Amino acid sequence: MPESRGGTPGLAESPAVKLLFIGDVVGGIGRRTMASLLPGLRDEHRPDFVVVNGENAAGGVGITEKTAQELLELGADAITLGNHAYRHRDVYEYLDREERIVRPANYPRGSPGHGHTVVERDGVRLGVVNLSGMVFMQAMRSPFSEVDARLAELRDATDAVLVDMHAEATSEKVAMGWHLDGRATACLGTHTHVPTADARVLPGGTAYVTDVGMTGPRGGVIGVKREQAVERFLTLTQVRFETSKEDPWLNAVLVEADGDGRATSIEQLLLRARF
Ligand SMILES: [Fe+2]
Ligand SMILES: [Fe+2]
Repeated sequence: MPESRGGTPGLAESPAVKLLFIGDVVGGIGRRTMASLLPGLRDEHRPDFVVVNGENAAGGVGITEKTAQELLELGADAITLGNHAYRHRDVYEYLDREERIVRPANYPRGSPGHGHTVVERDGVRLGVVNLSGMVFMQAMRSPFSEVDARLAELRDATDAVLVDMHAEATSEKVAMGWHLDGRATACLGTHTHVPTADARVLPGGTAYVTDVGMTGPRGGVIGVKREQAVERFLTLTQVRFETSKEDPWLNAVLVEADGDGRATSIEQLLLRARF
């Protein structure tokens, strides 16, 4: 059941906007998982917007123009990234050119790509902001002050705002949820690839989850073949990492919001792919 905030049973109006956010798509197996499950999710939930974290879409690390276009063709309205945004040098020009893909907003201003975007469907405008944490991660500016500046820009240009908080530390993500409560429709954590059990709507109307999880092979270690990851931990040597192919799952959240862009529910969707 979705975690709900208020509402009168039986009298609920249809929500003004429904967002489906898909956690880090990992490699070809993740893209295939999304391809196999998204049509059913669309039929069942009728999301107005689908946003996908694609930072691991190309071979498990980073993204390329080809894989980004595949995600868009599969039905993503916007793509967010993270610490692997710049893994493939030949994607830099595409990040500048393609409006629907965003890298962390608190990365250097002159670096490729942009930190937020606005996508529109049927007259509804969704702002999408990507942030990077700073605890155990590299970024140029505080995500807290950065998001304030981005929200100021988006306030009059959007009906709802989704923030992808790509971060390692749970505390930094929880703090960002509170920082954004009542000012963003959703603050959704990514990067750890493991879904957390804390999805809820904060009192001010911001849907929050510490980590959405990943769309990829649960049979590995956050996407990597498990024997390779275990060997590295056992030996501390350099071990070549490949993307696992075992037990693909789609991890996502569905957020519903009212006409003011305030979230009314968030539901985790954790689905096993069968192909
Ligand atoms: Fe990731
Ligand atoms: Fe990441």
